[in-house]
Amino acid sequence: MTLKKKPKVYITRKLPDQVETRMRELFDAELNVDDRPRTAEELVQAVQQCDVLVPTVTDRIDQALIEAAGPQLKLIASFSNGIDHIDIDAAARKGITVTNTPNVLTEDTADMTMALILAVPRRLAEGAQVLTTKTGEWAGWSPTWMLGHRIWGKRIGIIGMGRIGTAVARRAKAFGLSIHYHNRKRVNPATEEALEATYWDSLDQMLARVDIVSVNCPSTPATFHLLSARRLALMQPTSYLVNTARGDVIDEQALIACLKAGKIAGAGLDVFENEPKVNPKLVKLAQEGKVTLLPHMSSATIEGRIDMGEKVIINIRTYFDGHRPPNRVLP
Ligand code: DGY
Repeated sequence: MTLKKKPKVYITRKLPDQVETRMRELFDAELNVDDRPRTAEELVQAVQQCDVLVPTVTDRIDQALIEAAGPQLKLIASFSNGIDHIDIDAAARKGITVTNTPNVLTEDTADMTMALILAVPRRLAEGAQVLTTKTGEWAGWSPTWMLGHRIWGKRIGIIGMGRIGTAVARRAKAFGLSIHYHNRKRVNPATEEALEATYWDSLDQMLARVDIVSVNCPSTPATFHLLSARRLALMQPTSYLVNTARGDVIDEQALIACLKAGKIAGAGLDVFENEPKVNPKLVKLAQEGKVTLLPHMSSATIEGRIDMGEKVIINIRTYFDGHRPPNRVLP
């Protein structure tokens, strides 16, 4: 697909300055310098005028929006790794190509996952809070104060052994955890051997045996509430749950009930079912030190965001040069 003019590109959120500068140079770019989330009506207007839509995970690109698009909309070049906010099937039916920005967030997300794996059992947020007062005073060291649980020597169960899950496994192994994982299919023998990883075909069995569960699978209809009330009840009362993937993989109400009843020891959550809303019961649990909550920031590094922007640009340019974009997502 080639255009005589520069493609008209509508970008829904503020992007790093250098990405915006490049977009301005290359495209007829409509930026969002104020970073005000676009309304549904504004998105409808946009898809009736632009050649390319650049949404992020905060935009709902559903069937209704895609059906409202004019024939000029050729490409949805998402500024995201995850694509659960886009109805890929509806886009395919309309002949609209969809791309994402994989690989560049893997290591950053795995770092933050590891940070939560350390932070929750070792009570990092609570400890940091002690000195975050007006006076910065504390009673001093005591042999029995602020005790958490060690993580080395424990078992981690990774749900979803894709790029991010594997990067988490590498880190966890270096921290002395033994690696267990559940995935749609077994990873290749060389990776399993390098990580000394144990594959569990049965998620239920794995949940009952590990000390820390890390959710690293995408949000799809098949993973919706994968960690249901029944499955959460299989976890040990001393175990921890960390989620840096998507909120809806866990039944949040069931998790809250489990945490309140002491059926698991704690949780570290970077993602939530109804973002940007966070269930007030989770906030209360955080105040009680039972959970550590982060505002969807696992991939939030300056370098990562610039890399994402470059991927979006490459996808758009490749498409309008008449080639298949490198990060095309198939339904
Ligand atoms: C993504 O791009 O899917 C990430 O969740 C954003 O942090």
